[in-house]
Amino acid sequence: MNGLFIGLMSGTSIDAVDAALVGFAQQPLLIATHSHPIEPKLRQQLLMLSEGCHNELTLMLMLDQRMGKLFAEAANTLLKKASIDATAVCAIGSHGQTIRHYPESGCSLQIGDANLIAEHSGITTVADFRRRDLAAGGEGAPLVPAFHNAVFRSNSEDRVIVNIGGIANITHLPANADTVVSGFDTGPGNILMDGWTMRHLKQPFDEKGRWAKSGKVEQPLLNQLLQDGYFMQLPPKSTGREHFNIEWLDRQLETYQQQLSPESVQATLCQLTASTIAQAVKEHHPAAEALYICGGGVHNETVMQQLEAELPRHKVTSTRELGISPDWVEAIAFAWLAKERLAARPGNLPAVTGASRPVVLGGVYLGKGKEER
Ligand SMILES: Nc1ncnc2c1ncn2[C@@H]1O[C@H](COP(=O)(O)OP(=O)(O)OP(=O)(O)O)[C@@H](O)[C@H]1O
Ligand SMILES: [Mg+2]
Repeated sequence: MNGLFIGLMSGTSIDAVDAALVGFAQQPLLIATHSHPIEPKLRQQLLMLSEGCHNELTLMLMLDQRMGKLFAEAANTLLKKASIDATAVCAIGSHGQTIRHYPESGCSLQIGDANLIAEHSGITTVADFRRRDLAAGGEGAPLVPAFHNAVFRSNSEDRVIVNIGGIANITHLPANADTVVSGFDTGPGNILMDGWTMRHLKQPFDEKGRWAKSGKVEQPLLNQLLQDGYFMQLPPKSTGREHFNIEWLDRQLETYQQQLSPESVQATLCQLTASTIAQAVKEHHPAAEALYICGGGVHNETVMQQLEAELPRHKVTSTRELGISPDWVEAIAFAWLAKERLAARPGNLPAVTGASRPVVLGGVYLGKGKEER
């Protein structure tokens, strides 16, 4: 199906709702973008809910509704900015806000009621992308590799796409067309750095990684952090805020005897992100020649330099070089997944998620005027 689609993405960082208006002819064409703010109090409530709190079922219902309306608002603002009418849009693909991800138990929960998105925008909405993959025995994540495969694959260069969001994930796109695409979450992306920056600088993130750069990587602490069982686990694997969070870091620092400056802890966390990505590439994708980075982490110059230092023989650059702005890859991917859903094509890659088969992802909530009368 050709036409316009909207992708809505709010990731583990809970920094903003990314909204992308995309046209799909041959390659995706990014027509307009909008970053919709999540006000601090709402962010705080989402964090509380993600971590577990008193009266959480009621809070979940409230926030499911609040986020549904916010997602619709994000889509409507995007269309207003682009001067495009809702009737021109085939569908919205809404990832939702993850509040729990327990793939080992077969569950993952994203909120942001799609009934409200469809009703308030008037546009057919596809949501709940992860649970069909879980039902088929998969991790339900990562889901972006199929999109990476559709738009970034080359037969002349062996590529790895690296998304550095709250969590970091990689997709290997072999140059050899017969080799299967694989991918997994490597571990923390920005999530630990963001938490540490908030605690010490009262800022949501370390602008350009400057604070990390002012510190010194503490190798023994890094070695200790690298002992976490997740890094040893073989793919398929995925993770989230349930595992890598500020309490995880506090427990690690408690057992680390030496007193460190906050900036050296930050430098070490930054290195942890770079080292675990580099390690994943070296261990699992030795044929890879180039890394294309997307997600907010691309703006952290320290993590980018550390990646280059860890992988001196690889090209390390951003997805911009492949024609897609690194800030919008994920949102575009969910627009694409909505398109695949309407075409009844599978959106998961079993080699990535571990599902028993390719499955069609997402539930469809029809927009206004789409009902049969
Ligand atoms: N200018 C910047 N300098 C340093 N870091 C930045 C900058 N801009 C964004 N970031 C980092 O990127 C993060 C947001 O990235 P992004 O939106 O890709 O993650 P996300 O919403 O968690 O998505 P997901 O986890 O699904 O990939 C911010 O929380 C911050 O850590
Ligand atoms: Mg984000």
